[in-house]
Amino acid sequence: MVLQNVAWTIWLVGAAIIALGFVFVIVQAGKPADDEETRKATHTSHVLQAWAFVVLFVAFVVGSWATLRNFPIPPQSGTLDAQQVVDVIGRQWTWQIKPDTVKAGSTVEFRVTSDDVNHDFALYAPDGRIVTQTQAMPGYTNKLLYTFDVPGTYTVQCLEYCGLMHAEMTQQLQVVAGGDEAAPATASAATAAPSGAELGAKVYGEKCAVCHQAKGEGMPNVFPPLAGDPVVMAADATEHIMTVLHGTHDRVINGKTYAAQMPGWASQLTNEEAAAVINHERTSWGNQAPEVTVKDVAALRNP
Ligand code: CUA
Repeated sequence: MVLQNVAWTIWLVGAAIIALGFVFVIVQAGKPADDEETRKATHTSHVLQAWAFVVLFVAFVVGSWATLRNFPIPPQSGTLDAQQVVDVIGRQWTWQIKPDTVKAGSTVEFRVTSDDVNHDFALYAPDGRIVTQTQAMPGYTNKLLYTFDVPGTYTVQCLEYCGLMHAEMTQQLQVVAGGDEAAPATASAATAAPSGAELGAKVYGEKCAVCHQAKGEGMPNVFPPLAGDPVVMAADATEHIMTVLHGTHDRVINGKTYAAQMPGWASQLTNEEAAAVINHERTSWGNQAPEVTVKDVAALRNP
């Protein structure tokens, strides 16, 4: 039976019982009062009330015990002794997740915090089911224990509205089969291998495209385009590198003011990654600016 039909049936039966109650009261209304019967009825109703209280109280105690025993949040003070620990930092509008590969079959402790505003760290299984979540709060580290049963690519999604690009605040977490010691190493070897151009495109897709969009076209009046941008096109890359490493805000570009804060990426990108993504921006979407070296980036990391 489809759910709507079940609900419909329950509603009809309930409505019929209430209607019969009204009919009973109407039929009784015309009869003269009988003191003895009234006394009996009062007594019966008191007994029923007492039983209803006992039944509901027992149901409450048993229900609380059965459900709160499995309270999904582990104790937050002290150590949790999980075999794997993943540090998670939320920022408008990215997740920094280290490491981003874990093993199935043994417990993972997520230590979740935020660098700016409240976010919510939620993990979705490859089939789209949400499996666990906790708040990412500035100034606090919330601990979350989870044991993955099924390997695959899990998706992290922010579930706390945190500003303009909240819905884009996603990241991936790889879960490999337990006992497969080689798998995480192979995965990181594979990501360490790509050429500068591949690395640049990958970092751009993960960190920059959220705001500046896939083809560097930006978002009108919110995020500036990088295609044709004077700083990205400049022969002297100093300002470009400084902006990527250390962020900017209230920038006036071609006469337009962009109020949105761009985060600095120095803490999240290696010099190689920063150089690769800067070169990606300098040579894509029609841009033709001289490329930078890893050394150029290193020199401006701690200006
Ligand atoms: Cu972070 Cu929504």
